[in-house]
Amino acid sequence: MSDAEISPDLPPDLPPDLLEEHARLLEEARAAFSSAADDKALDAARVKYLGRKAGLVQAEFDRIKTLPPEERRAFGKSANALRKAVERELAAARIGQGIGQGIDEIDHRAPKLDMTLPGRARELGHRHVLSQTTELLVNVAATLGFSVAEGPEVESEFNNFDALNIPREHPSYDPFDTFYIETPEGAEKLVLRSHTSPVQVREMKRHAPEPLRVVVPGRTYRPDKVDATHYHTFHQLEGLAVDSDITFQDLKYTLDLFAKGVFGEETLTRFRPSYFPFTEPSAEVDVSCPFCARDGGACPVCKATGWLEILGSGMVHPKVLSNGGYDPEDVTGFAFGMGVERIAMLRHGIRDIRLFIDPERGNDLRFLEQF
Ligand code: DAH
Repeated sequence: MSDAEISPDLPPDLPPDLLEEHARLLEEARAAFSSAADDKALDAARVKYLGRKAGLVQAEFDRIKTLPPEERRAFGKSANALRKAVERELAAARIGQGIGQGIDEIDHRAPKLDMTLPGRARELGHRHVLSQTTELLVNVAATLGFSVAEGPEVESEFNNFDALNIPREHPSYDPFDTFYIETPEGAEKLVLRSHTSPVQVREMKRHAPEPLRVVVPGRTYRPDKVDATHYHTFHQLEGLAVDSDITFQDLKYTLDLFAKGVFGEETLTRFRPSYFPFTEPSAEVDVSCPFCARDGGACPVCKATGWLEILGSGMVHPKVLSNGGYDPEDVTGFAFGMGVERIAMLRHGIRDIRLFIDPERGNDLRFLEQF
């Protein structure tokens, strides 16, 4: 009889190296383990087969030296396979698994749970510092009566520029230059929005002629050269209020309260004339440096000026109001926009914008866990 066809009453899934006499011994051990009624009986069976001194498996090893040299190798291999298989049978019997099943399957089910290992602590995550900052800004705006809206990051070229009165062939276009999406000839041109201002137009169209007070947080893009304060991908918060008699005083009062809400009660604001195509008049807003006395001293954050620029703002340009579906004869409005990264950097003393999301320098848990 060849090895491959051991007698039919033996199971088909035996280890390949096993000689027939060992297969029989394995079968015997399997039967003894599975019929053991309790722990004691099982242990007795263990000693009978696997006992180190007088066990039947050990006896097979002891036989090796009595065999002719040319038979020893195959016999030794078989004895090893036997020992392993009997040990597996014992393990399976110990966890009360069905011994009639295939050896491989039983092995698979052998206990893998080591109750003595220390547990794995599951660490609690938290929001990214930019999300925290956005939430702070939105919450402060909410206390001032603003609701929240969002718009798409892939925006029409029209909304990103034309609807906001930004001329294409003019230097005032440059700061808002952006990435263009490839679109078929003749289709509407799409860009990655270079600011959140296009959402002004979307929101106006949604609400006109009703009054409107909304802030818009969101991600924005520009092909800027990357350095410590510029990154191609960043975030802004836009604000817009439209109503029948909104004045520049409303803008100043609202942004002053807003700055106090974000940087603290003692914060002062300063409005400097500026230019944006979508507002007229326009102003840039500074806050008193929260890191030093107002006269500056040697503060590195405000470069000893005592002031920090935080946002752009202005009265919504009549053309923009009518692009949004309002009659500029009936309503006025103010708008503002700020960089979330910049606010986060000022609040936390962060010196490099790349620390936030840059795949090489940023998004490092050792950095993010500090906030
Ligand atoms: N969109 C401008 C920018 O990205 C920021 C801005 C300035 C927004 C003035 C406004 C505004 O709404 O009135 O630089």
